[in-house]
Amino acid sequence: MATPTKTPAVNTSATRVLTTNKHLIRWVEKMAELTQPASIHWIDGSEEENQYLCDQLVQAGTFTKLNQTLWPGCYYARSSPNDVARVEDRTFICSLSKDSAGPTNNWEDPFVMRKRLKALFRGSMRGRTMYVLAYSMGPVGSPLSQIGVQLTDSAYAVVNMRIMARVGAPVLAEIDKDIKRVVPCMHSVGAPLAPGEEDVPWPQNDTKYIVHFPETREIWSYGSGYGGNALLGKKCFALRIASNIARDEGWMAEHMLIVGVESPSGEKTYVAAAFPSACGKTNFAMMIPPKAFAGWKIWTVGDDIAWIKPDKSGQLRAINPEAGFFGVAPGTSAKTNPNAMATLRRNTIFTNVALTPEGGVWWEGMTDEPPAECVDWRGERWTPEIGRTTGKPAAHPNGRFTSPVSQCPSIDMEAWESPEGVPISAFLFGGRRASTIPLVFQAFNWSSGVYIGATMGSETTAAAAGALGKVRRDPMAMLPFCGYHMGDYFRHWLRMQRNLSATPRIFHVNWFLKDDSGHFLWPGFSDNMRVLMWIVDRVRGRAQAKETPIGWTPHYEDMNWQDLDMPRERFDQLQKVDRTAWRQEVMNHEELFLLLHDHLPPEMIYERELLICRL
Ligand code: GTP
Ligand code: SPV
Ligand code: MN
Repeated sequence: MATPTKTPAVNTSATRVLTTNKHLIRWVEKMAELTQPASIHWIDGSEEENQYLCDQLVQAGTFTKLNQTLWPGCYYARSSPNDVARVEDRTFICSLSKDSAGPTNNWEDPFVMRKRLKALFRGSMRGRTMYVLAYSMGPVGSPLSQIGVQLTDSAYAVVNMRIMARVGAPVLAEIDKDIKRVVPCMHSVGAPLAPGEEDVPWPQNDTKYIVHFPETREIWSYGSGYGGNALLGKKCFALRIASNIARDEGWMAEHMLIVGVESPSGEKTYVAAAFPSACGKTNFAMMIPPKAFAGWKIWTVGDDIAWIKPDKSGQLRAINPEAGFFGVAPGTSAKTNPNAMATLRRNTIFTNVALTPEGGVWWEGMTDEPPAECVDWRGERWTPEIGRTTGKPAAHPNGRFTSPVSQCPSIDMEAWESPEGVPISAFLFGGRRASTIPLVFQAFNWSSGVYIGATMGSETTAAAAGALGKVRRDPMAMLPFCGYHMGDYFRHWLRMQRNLSATPRIFHVNWFLKDDSGHFLWPGFSDNMRVLMWIVDRVRGRAQAKETPIGWTPHYEDMNWQDLDMPRERFDQLQKVDRTAWRQEVMNHEELFLLLHDHLPPEMIYERELLICRL
C-alpha cells in the first residue's frame, strides 16, 4: 500500500542564486513553493554546465549521444508520440476581455485560467530540478531586445533554449543592471516524480495548456516538452506576447525570415518573408543562388521570426530575435538546402528523426537512398521495406534540428547581430497552395499588400497537431501566433505605414503549385532565386511588370531563365490568374472577414471591393 509521502523540501542548499534582483528572487521562491521541485538550478549558460545537462539527459535516456566523429557535439532525442508538435487547440490568449483576443484565438477568463493553472502546477515539479533560465531575445543589451525568465523542469528545454536564445550570466547581468521589464515564463512538463519513481525518457502530460496573459505579459505552459510549446522564447514570447508589446509601442513582431541579397557590385537588399509553418522559410533564408546568378550572394539574418521597427529616418529595420534554428528536418538535404546541412553537422540537437546504426541521423529526403536499416522516431526498427509496406516514415514529418545560427555558412556576419537591425525593402507573403495562387505577384500599394497578407491561405502542415493539407486562412502566417484580435492586427499593419519614409514593397509568392498529376509545377528551392531577383529588381525600379486583376506580375522576359527548362507555356501556367477560381478565393476571404467583422479596418473592405471589380 502506498503511504502518503511527505513533500520534499526545496533543496535550497543546491541553489546558487545568480541575481541580486529581489523581484526575480521572490518570484522564483514563490513558484518553487507552488511547484515543489527537489532542487533549483540557476542557469549560467556556460559550456561546462551545458555538458553537465547533456550528460544528465543521456543518463535519463532522453538523449542519445551521436557518433562524435561523424556528428561532433550532436545529440538525438525522441519525444513521446503524444508530444510532437505545437498544440493550437490547447493554446490560449487570456486577455481580460474575450474581445481583445478575437475569434481566431482560444480564450478563457484570466481569473478562471489562473486558478486552473495553479491547480495544475501545484506540485508539478516534484522530484525534479527547476531550472531558472534567463534569456534575451535579440542581442544582449540591444535596444530592440527583450528579456524573459523561463522556469522549467525540463533540461531538454534548457539545452535547446541555450541554442535558440542568448541565455544565462550575461542576461542576468542585464536584469541586475536596470529595471528592464522581464517576461515571466512558467513551464512544466507536468510529470512529477514520486520518491523512488523511475523517470521516462520523455516526460509529458496528456493534458496540455499553452497560456498567455497579454496584459501582464506572462506565459504559462504545461504538459509539453516539444518545440514552440516548451521553448518559450520562440512563439510564446517572440510572437504572441511580443505582438502585443509591438502594437502598443509601434513596431512589428512577425513570423518572418530575414534575408539579404547582395549584387556583384556589393549592393545589399534585405527582404522579410512570412510563410506559414513548414512552408519554406528556412530554405529561402539560406538559399544558394543557381549558376545563372554568378556573383550574387544570399545572406541569412533569420529563418523564423523578425522584430521590425521604424528607425529615426522612417526606415523599417529588422532583427532576428533568435540565436538558433529550430528547423524542419524532413526534406532537408545537400541538394535542397546545403547551407542547412552544413549548419547542422555539429553542436546540434535532433528530435524525432531516425537513428542510424553508426550513430548518425536520417530523415526522409536527406539522401536518395534510405539507410538499409535504422531506428525510427518511435524507437522501432525501420527498413525501407517496412516503410513501404506500413507507409510509416522513419522520421516524424515535424522532426526537427536545433542548431546555432552562427554555424550557418550564409550567415550575414556583419549584420545579423547588429543592434539596430537591417533595412527592409520588401515584404513577401507566401502560402502552400496547389492551385489558384500564381508563382509571384506584386501588390499595387501598401494597403492592397496588407489585404494580400491578411487573406493569405495555406494548406496545413505537420508543424501543428491536427488535420493535414487543408487550406485555411493564415493571415500573414500569424494565425497561431497573433496575441490579440486579428482585425486589430490588420489595423496595426495599415497604421505602420504612417511612420515610414520609404514603404517596403509587398509581394505574394507560391512555390507549391501542382499540375493535374500532383507534381510540383515549380522547381523551388534554389530556383526561388529567380523570383527573388525579379522582386529585388522591382524594388530597385529595374524590372518591368504586367498589370493583372490581382497585382503586378512579371512577363516571361522579365525573369532570368538561364540553365532552367522553362517553356513559355509552363510559365503562363505558373502565372495564370483564373478568374473563376479567384472568385471562389474571394468568397473565402469573405468568410474570414465575417469572422473578424467588428474589428475589421474599412480599408480591408475597400480592397476587397476593388479586387472584385478588377476580377
Ligand atoms: P517553420 O520552422 O515551421 O516555421 O517552417 P519553415 O517555413 O521554416 O519551413 P522549412 O523551410 O523548414 O520547410 C518545410 C518543408 O518545405 C521542407 O520539407 C522543405 O523541403 C519544403 N520546401 C522548402 N522550400 C521549398 C520549395 O521551394 N519547394 C518545395 N516544393 N518544397 C519546399
Ligand atoms: C512553427 O511551427 O512555425 C515553428 C516550429 O517554427 S515551433 O517552434 O515548434 O513552433
Ligand atoms: Mn515558425
